[in-house]
Amino acid sequence: MAIQDPGTRPVIKPVVTPANPRFSSGPCAKPPTFDVAKLADAPLGRSHRAAVGKARLKAAIEGTREVLGIPADYRIGIVPASDTGAVEMALWNLLGARKVEMLAWESFGAGWVTDVVKQLKLDAEIKTADYGQIVDLTTVDTDNDVVFTWNGTTSGVRVPNGDWIKADRDGLTICDATSAAFAQELPWDKLDVTTFSWQKVLGGEAAHGMIVLSPRAVERLESYTPAWPLPKIFRLTKGGKLIEGIFEGATINTPSMLAVEDYLLALDWARSVGGLSGLIARADANAQVIHDFCDARDWIGNLADDPATRSNTSVCVRFTNPRITDGASFAKAIAKRLEAEGVALDIGAYRDAPAGLRIWCGGTVETSDLAALMPWIDWAYQSEIADVPG
Ligand SMILES: Cc1ncc(COP(=O)(O)O)c(C=O)c1O
Repeated sequence: MAIQDPGTRPVIKPVVTPANPRFSSGPCAKPPTFDVAKLADAPLGRSHRAAVGKARLKAAIEGTREVLGIPADYRIGIVPASDTGAVEMALWNLLGARKVEMLAWESFGAGWVTDVVKQLKLDAEIKTADYGQIVDLTTVDTDNDVVFTWNGTTSGVRVPNGDWIKADRDGLTICDATSAAFAQELPWDKLDVTTFSWQKVLGGEAAHGMIVLSPRAVERLESYTPAWPLPKIFRLTKGGKLIEGIFEGATINTPSMLAVEDYLLALDWARSVGGLSGLIARADANAQVIHDFCDARDWIGNLADDPATRSNTSVCVRFTNPRITDGASFAKAIAKRLEAEGVALDIGAYRDAPAGLRIWCGGTVETSDLAALMPWIDWAYQSEIADVPG
């Protein structure tokens, strides 16, 4: 069916559909080669403290180190409660020792601000930017402790680099990198605490988070005791010493060995596409499909103003035709139409973000699927705008 938008060309409903319509920003698409049968060797029904379980957990830690290029003297732990658990653990264990700067440019970063100010009741300096923008990073003093999100999943705005972080800083940098790790270069020498979850870029399962600690973060843990109590689930030290076992695979509490196996499989797939550089190249190519699409049209644009800050994972776009007066309803109708056609699932903007679409471009998504999706966005847009008066 051809739909005539007054003043524009008719748009034909596309024929080619994405082979995989899963463009959710978390949990993200499983690796293209995923098959649940490949999890058959998981040591299910066995203790995670048995040799077999501990070996799988250790392999998850060391596989993470290898694929992400994390320095040998950084500790990597598998912790409860996904990325949220890992971030909270960092905030509650480490903050309060010195002045804190909280940076936020979207919903998750704003959530960490609330925790630090309202729950920990710290007199933090708060620097925020609107959706689509980023804080002026040159104003950040990394002699303070600094908490920030590397890739703002709900705004599609990312930190362009770590140049603003001093090499000889006195503070700790605490970085929520959940939608950046495995898709973007992370400068480990500039990051003291880095967190992410398996359910994001590698398309793993939720439930477990990872926390990566620099030697300076460990030093802080061993020399500073926060004024507030810490539940067992957050505790990283005992008697003033790091609990080393956590970073060897002796998790604080019981993990899902099925999720661990799934993560190991995802790491294998990551190696098969060239490791970190392969993953970054895949995400870049994916995001480029959307950037090119937006550049060629005057009714859609990236939410991130500065191209240097544009995410290559959670790409957020908005509809810019001034005829659209109810942006939220318009964008929702587009997402609904695409979902109904089975060509794109879960691509509505995050609930607190400006109206638009958020399309996941991490490495588990195939570029050909994004290329197949773009004509459908044309079609859905033209179908919806035809009903907008103007
Ligand atoms: C930047 C950021 N931080 C934290 C979270 C929470 O992650 P999880 O649900 O894995 O704890 C998300 C999830 O989308 C996120 O994008």
